[in-house]
Amino acid sequence: MIELHRVSKVFSVGPVKVPALSDVSLRIAKGEFVVLTGASGAGKTTLLRLLYRDDVPSEGEVQVLGEDVASLRRSEVAALRRSIGVVFQDAKLLPARTVYENVAFVLRVLGTPKREITPRVFDALRTVGISARAQAYPAQLSQGEAQRASLARAIVRQPSLLLADEPTGNLDDAMEAEIIDVIKDIRAGGTTVILATHQSRLVRALRRRTITLDGGYLLKDEG
Ligand SMILES: Nc1ncnc2c1ncn2[C@@H]1O[C@H](COP(=O)(O)OP(=O)(O)OP(=O)(O)O)[C@@H](O)[C@H]1O
Ligand SMILES: [Mg+2]
Repeated sequence: MIELHRVSKVFSVGPVKVPALSDVSLRIAKGEFVVLTGASGAGKTTLLRLLYRDDVPSEGEVQVLGEDVASLRRSEVAALRRSIGVVFQDAKLLPARTVYENVAFVLRVLGTPKREITPRVFDALRTVGISARAQAYPAQLSQGEAQRASLARAIVRQPSLLLADEPTGNLDDAMEAEIIDVIKDIRAGGTTVILATHQSRLVRALRRRTITLDGGYLLKDEG
């Protein structure tokens, strides 16, 4: 599913070189639930960005779903991103659209036939437990509900890979537990999940394979 071979990423900020990832190699199999952790600045977000081809490595190779991401053409990048759902700390919903519209929008952009859109949107909303809020606007949602909507938008294309970057960073403990349960359900449906968090309490609670980055280096891969 995912293979990184001696991957490094260096950002140039003016004349300064900032190493974000250094010589990282790892493999993640289809269907795994992997936690990516490390202190702030360790390189978690950078690693996720390489997986959905938001950026390319400076050195080494990143393979996702059998493709070497650096060598993809524009149309192939779009195809790769269709198989990957991404959620962030901030739900990033379109404020002028309802929950339903936020999720349906993704399918419209893909040219999904009209009659398929409503059932698929409601499927996704049910999976995350927010179908009763379909007609609400983002400003009317709690942060937990907003994050559920953001998860629904990520999974409505039925991606084979879900990348979650600090998805519970803005939530209190009870809402965090609910969102984690939703992510576990998504994983149970066959989706590979990589969840990035700097919170060691959450890492301990998840008890999954944990990849720890430290200053861009892979420090530990265990569990
Ligand atoms: N676009 C960029 N330009 C310059 N430097 C960057 C860029 N993105 C990340 N960095 C640097 O790369 C390093 C790794 O950053 P990254 O955002 O991947 O860390 P992180 O583990 O996700 O941290 P956090 O827990 O705060 O989200 C940091 O030193 C950061 O400042
Ligand atoms: Mg980050």
